[in-house]
Amino acid sequence: MSERAFVMIKPDGVRRGLIGEIVSRFEKKGLSVVKAELIQVSEATAKEHYGHLEAKPFFRELVDYITSGPSFAMIVEGTAAVKNSRYLIGATNPADAAPGTIRGDYGLDVSENVIHGSDSIDNARIEIERFFIR
Ligand code: TYD
Repeated sequence: MSERAFVMIKPDGVRRGLIGEIVSRFEKKGLSVVKAELIQVSEATAKEHYGHLEAKPFFRELVDYITSGPSFAMIVEGTAAVKNSRYLIGATNPADAAPGTIRGDYGLDVSENVIHGSDSIDNARIEIERFFIR
């Protein structure tokens, strides 16, 4: 079933010039980028987006990282877009992500893991609203 996922190339990915390469992977898979924008994530939005990790020792570093420069936010649409995006992206820690996945090919460290993708259809809807609608 066609659905929408929220995907965002994080500041390290943008800084390293990986937007084209990463967008190309989604397109080759058959998913469509139906909306995209280079955005500066605010401190408030970062804290909301990563609210589930607030108690973690790396929370401050995570907020500093995601606000450290522009991110490339996208809405990706197609069959099982959430699940397919997560497979393309790979495991949270690039050290555990398989070669051929985006984090497996372009990341080294969990604290700068190149890209975000919604982990559920419900969160996709919430994140699209968070980053594109307001
Ligand atoms: P999480 O929502 O658990 O993973 P995912 O991004 O794969 O949905 O974590 C959010 C981000 O927090 C993750 O992309 C990278 C960062 N993070 C760390 O910096 N250190 C950690 O130990 C973990 C688990 C996550």
